[in-house]
Amino acid sequence: MLLKMHLVSGRAYSGLLGRQGSVATCLRRGNSLIKPPLCRNVSLSSQRCTIMSSWIIDKYGRNDVLRFTKNMTFPILQFPNEVVIKVHAASLNPIDVNMRNGYGKAALNMKRDPLNLKSRGSEFPVTLGRDVSGVIMECGLDVAYFKPGDEVWAAIPPWKQGTLSEFVVASGNEISHKPKSLSHIEAASLPYVGLTAWSAMNQIGRLNQHNCTGKRILIFGASGGVGTFAIQLMKAWGGHVTAVCSSDASALVKKLGADDVIDYKSGDVAEQLKMLPLFDFILDNIGGSTENWSLNFLKKWSGATYVTLITPFLLNVDRLGVADGMLQTGVTVGTKAIKHLCKGIHYRWAFFTPSGPSLDEIAELVDSGKIQPVVEQVFSFFDVPKAFLKLEEGHARGKTVIRVTNK
Ligand SMILES: NC(=O)c1ccc[n+]([C@@H]2O[C@H](COP(=O)([O-])OP(=O)(O)OC[C@H]3O[C@@H](n4cnc5c(N)ncnc54)[C@H](OP(=O)(O)O)[C@@H]3O)[C@@H](O)[C@H]2O)c1
Repeated sequence: MLLKMHLVSGRAYSGLLGRQGSVATCLRRGNSLIKPPLCRNVSLSSQRCTIMSSWIIDKYGRNDVLRFTKNMTFPILQFPNEVVIKVHAASLNPIDVNMRNGYGKAALNMKRDPLNLKSRGSEFPVTLGRDVSGVIMECGLDVAYFKPGDEVWAAIPPWKQGTLSEFVVASGNEISHKPKSLSHIEAASLPYVGLTAWSAMNQIGRLNQHNCTGKRILIFGASGGVGTFAIQLMKAWGGHVTAVCSSDASALVKKLGADDVIDYKSGDVAEQLKMLPLFDFILDNIGGSTENWSLNFLKKWSGATYVTLITPFLLNVDRLGVADGMLQTGVTVGTKAIKHLCKGIHYRWAFFTPSGPSLDEIAELVDSGKIQPVVEQVFSFFDVPKAFLKLEEGHARGKTVIRVTNK
């Protein structure tokens, strides 16, 4: 599985010789554990640190399964294209709460390192947290695009150990130089939601800076992490944005650039949308019944696309097992796509996709002032359980960030 991911990532890296070289070497060496020495420069793992502080879970459940430990094994480089990052800040996403509860465990275990799973007898201890902004401490021998001391940001895929930890390992394909204009706290708020919006709107939805001007974009769930990023991305590319959120978030989404705001709490959203022209693109961060009626507000037979982030893929695999779960998922999405295609609409599912090159593009938009972080609340590393409770309450207005180091 890891090998497959490198293959996919490898395609995305044409032109980045350093990163591409890493991919090639990994492929030659196969999917087996490669023993140190893999790293150059600072050799933290082999010489000094053997343990570190992390928030981990040893079983799935409610918030009391979160456990702070000072004895987590220091991460080692398993592939020559990996780096160790000292985590300065992390942030939370709904997937962290869901994973804490056990959501997606079947599919994620399928992607987790089989050697680690076998030696431990289970996936535990699992470290949650996907976003990181920090400093590279150690680089694998094939990492040419980054060096120790570089400030980087990344979103680590959910089948890897997460960022609620002093140090985390990431592949060179997943990281990017942190935007210079942002602090670590600000930077940690963007990678996971930014890459999810990028995947949904650019990779799946085919929107980009050249074809967005004047396009009418409708965003459900506009006030959360993904929504606040998506509004700004669409405005940066010249789109016309209608944001659906609750009334108290109206000022926030307008400040981020939304042209029209629909308050879903003050009346029927469909009735309010009838007053507006039809749309070219819908990003659905809410799911549920929204997809039963919202596609009626897309322009038909003109390439208009509905993309939802709320899919049953991981739940299906949890419930039905890998083979049946994937089959069920394929049938569901295929049936819906064909049904809507017959009505002149493209229907798609999108997923978070780790990607250093996409983060490079996002960093440019950030440093040019077109995208700003929306940090709702910052928690200290010792208050991680409080941050999870805050996330579980819902009603996010941007992102919840964890300050991992005080530097
Ligand atoms: N497929 C993937 O790979 C992927 C990746 C990332 C996220 N997601 C999913 O996408 C969703 C959004 O993620 P996120 O990080 O943006 O979550 P979030 O930060 O928790 O934001 C959700 C936002 O939606 C608002 N909301 C709730 N009900 C609404 C409604 N009926 N109409 C309009 N707005 C509503 C919430 O505020 P109020 O309740 O106050 O209105 C909140 O601001 C989550 O369900 C997440 O699990 C999927």
